[in-house]
Amino acid sequence: MAKMWEGRFSKEEDKAVNDFNKSITFDKKLYKEDIKGSMAHASMLGACSIIPMQDVEKILKGLEDILKDLENGTLEIDMDAEDIHMFIEAELTKRIGDAGKKLHTARSRNDQVALDMNLYVKSSVEEVKAELKNMISVLVDIAENNLETIMPGYTHLQRAQPVTFAYYMMAYANMFARDISRLDDLEDRLKMPLGSAALAGTTYPIDRKMVAKELGFSEPYANAMDAVSDRDYVIEFASDLSMVMMHLSRFAEEVILWTSTEFGYLELDDAYATGSSIMPQKKNPDIAELVRGKTGRVYGNLMGILTVMKGLPLAYDKDMQEDKESLFDSVDTIKACLPIFAAMLKSATVKKDAMKKAAEKGFINATDVADYLAKKGMPFRDAYKCSGQLVAICINTNNTLNSLLLEEYKKISTLFEQDIYNVIDLKNCVEKRVSQGGPSILSIKKQITKMKSQL
Ligand code: ARG
Repeated sequence: MAKMWEGRFSKEEDKAVNDFNKSITFDKKLYKEDIKGSMAHASMLGACSIIPMQDVEKILKGLEDILKDLENGTLEIDMDAEDIHMFIEAELTKRIGDAGKKLHTARSRNDQVALDMNLYVKSSVEEVKAELKNMISVLVDIAENNLETIMPGYTHLQRAQPVTFAYYMMAYANMFARDISRLDDLEDRLKMPLGSAALAGTTYPIDRKMVAKELGFSEPYANAMDAVSDRDYVIEFASDLSMVMMHLSRFAEEVILWTSTEFGYLELDDAYATGSSIMPQKKNPDIAELVRGKTGRVYGNLMGILTVMKGLPLAYDKDMQEDKESLFDSVDTIKACLPIFAAMLKSATVKKDAMKKAAEKGFINATDVADYLAKKGMPFRDAYKCSGQLVAICINTNNTLNSLLLEEYKKISTLFEQDIYNVIDLKNCVEKRVSQGGPSILSIKKQITKMKSQL
């Protein structure tokens, strides 16, 4: 295939070299960004009188038609082209002749591909944010329906203190809200690279601010060499996405535990679970397991791009072509995981009774017994010890702290009165936790209101 850069060469490129070198098989994904960027570039070239307006009009019309034809399938991307930039420019020139050859004035593929990737990150960030918002609103809904659903909270995966399912869900909602703010942050840092040309800017009187504005960036990169060398935003995005997957993976693990017979806190809707080919009784949480599994490849993608960029001299190096497949994979993975995970949660049944039963075992109100004594003047360390002794008595006599008789309490400390039973009632244990950010109904309602206003 004839190359745009063929002037300097006396031999045709070896077919194997073309196949090895080309990126069209994956950067075809950037056709929209590439066309959008080229249209902004052409308009700027016209506005700055670098190329004639009649040519600009032909270019814009030509690019619009190419976009239309690609979208409706009448134009197929040539998989022998080197990359999407070459393909679109060649197609344009085929269609409009000499005017098409003027498009690449004051531009290089180095700033062009950087622009395409920035545009891709920009729109993908928006898509991921929308999925995160959907996830949060599902969690808020579940929380609102479970304000009084008492369950054990855990540390070391041992029953620790009573909380509510609403509280648990809002913890995850806040994690996903942080993910959104990280993406906001990345978005704020995106700059417009076009006009950097190969690495050293250009002698043409271009207007980079105009292109930045047209494409929705706050400003162009301040340094053209940085602009064509930079893939920080790719790494940041890959990192932000890894964090989302880490959150999802923790959540997935909980779902896997909760849907086991051992916990029984959650039942997945039949439509969101899978069966076994041999064991008729099985109902497997495959979605959660796959999400947990896919976290590995998203982390791997981050490691990949960090390693590609390590040690690269400025400015553009062909190594940087390796930035695409892994980022596309991370974005596609997240865009697949978030909605299905949210739908799985939304359709699951919360087994309130099982949670309550679990909360009644494991002495998760032992801290409240200690606090009871401490509030009556006993130093907390001593109160802690008394509560521990009571737990030991309960274990030996097959009691719970709620069933143990007051005379037993009094043997440990005379500070105990009848009102201890009220204090260690699980509902009260949760309700009294009114500290800011705590699990009481009032506190959760505030958290929900705050979350809703943030969205
Ligand atoms: N296909 C290349 C990439 O993905 C585009 C930039 C190529 N620039 C160059 N001078 N060969 O990075």
